[in-house]
Amino acid sequence: MQKIVIRGGRALRGTVTVSGSKNAGLPLLFASLLTRERCTIHGLPRVADITTTLRLLEGLGVLVGDGEFATIVVEARTLTSSEAPYELVRTMRASFLALGPLVARTGHARVSTPGGCAIGSRPVDIHLAGFERLGARIRQTHGYVEAEASRLRGARIALDFPSVGATENLMMAATLADGTTLIENAAREPEIDDLAAALCKMGAKISGAGTSVIRIDGVRELGGFDHEVIPDRIEAGTLLLAGAITGGEVHVARARADHLDALVAKLEEAGVAVEARADGITVRGAALLAAADIRTSPYPGFPTDLQAQFMALMALGKGQSVITETIFENRFMHVQELVRMGADIRVDGKTAAVRGVAALSGAPVMATDLRASVCLVLAGLAAQNTTEVLRVYHLDRGYERLEEKLSTLGADIERVRA
Ligand code: EPZ
Repeated sequence: MQKIVIRGGRALRGTVTVSGSKNAGLPLLFASLLTRERCTIHGLPRVADITTTLRLLEGLGVLVGDGEFATIVVEARTLTSSEAPYELVRTMRASFLALGPLVARTGHARVSTPGGCAIGSRPVDIHLAGFERLGARIRQTHGYVEAEASRLRGARIALDFPSVGATENLMMAATLADGTTLIENAAREPEIDDLAAALCKMGAKISGAGTSVIRIDGVRELGGFDHEVIPDRIEAGTLLLAGAITGGEVHVARARADHLDALVAKLEEAGVAVEARADGITVRGAALLAAADIRTSPYPGFPTDLQAQFMALMALGKGQSVITETIFENRFMHVQELVRMGADIRVDGKTAAVRGVAALSGAPVMATDLRASVCLVLAGLAAQNTTEVLRVYHLDRGYERLEEKLSTLGADIERVRA
């Protein structure tokens, strides 16, 4: 077991480059199941969720090769299985994205239901309702979902909620369906647009990705693709918040301001100077942070994946900020750990009232999920004295070499054996 030790109170300064997007890279890897041809993906981050996905693909018979740098080559020339086992799916919910490509490519899929996780029950009902609309026969037995269809048929699907995963799963499946599919109330996240761009390189016929209505005209077969994944907007937002919370000046190279409008607006409301340039975004932390309310919502609203990190900033804001989490039912587990560092936060259901304090004090704290763990790192960077973040395996699921990146900005941070 490892822990991260931070001696806080240092203003971060300098330039850091954001890695490729984990949440864009995962569906891109699953899209490779739709074709027998080679798929090359550039810019994938070396994080645990990507590694888990490569293992799952290999278990299905996919050939996985390392290109130079962050390039991965995958080739699903022949599939030897159409089953995604529980022991892999339970560690990473995104494994459920194997369902759509497998049933579209082979006519059959048996994927473990993800089960809940720390932040919520994480059901897949919206995915399954969509697959039934596409003509798949769905059975749920012994914690697995089985989907069968000789060939999926295009349909009009109205999602009850703009689920990111359901939009990705159904869009991938619909590329090989017979006829036209409309996905209404689709998720609009940049990762959806990036996946659609790669699918179109494969020969898919997709329009409207990034809007609430996506049209897919099915084709008989797809080819391979060569694609560079978009920068990780959540990591970029996290690094900007590291600059803001320490009162420093940080430039995040490759960060795309058009993917971070909601965060940029809230940073400016909190008194942080933000400069968006062609090559990235620069923040200059304010000596005195103002309180700002946030309410998470589907893109382009404030991202739930930046809620915990923004709360760490508001713990030092002047006055009270109200943080409302509307996406997941249990995404305030970082609150108790922040309170142990001296934050003044009261939770009432989906809402947390944060009253800013003059300073946070370092303490040993426990990570509970991916974004809560990085929130505690941010708090540790700003806190007086030493913070130890335990269970950093949560962090490693989605952040590539984070301590290294923060060290280059002047942070006193190291990973040690716990
Ligand atoms: C994706 O998860 C992201 N993961 C999450 O990031 C992100 O928080 C989430 O989208 C919301 O933006 C990846 O892209 C790999 P959803 P996903 O389906 O697809 C409910 C991270 O930190 N729902 O949009 O699972 C669900 O319970 C992770 O990188 C149903 O009720 O999210 C949740 O309350 C965490 N039924 C809400 O919708 C369904 O069938 C949003 O879920 C599907 C979802």
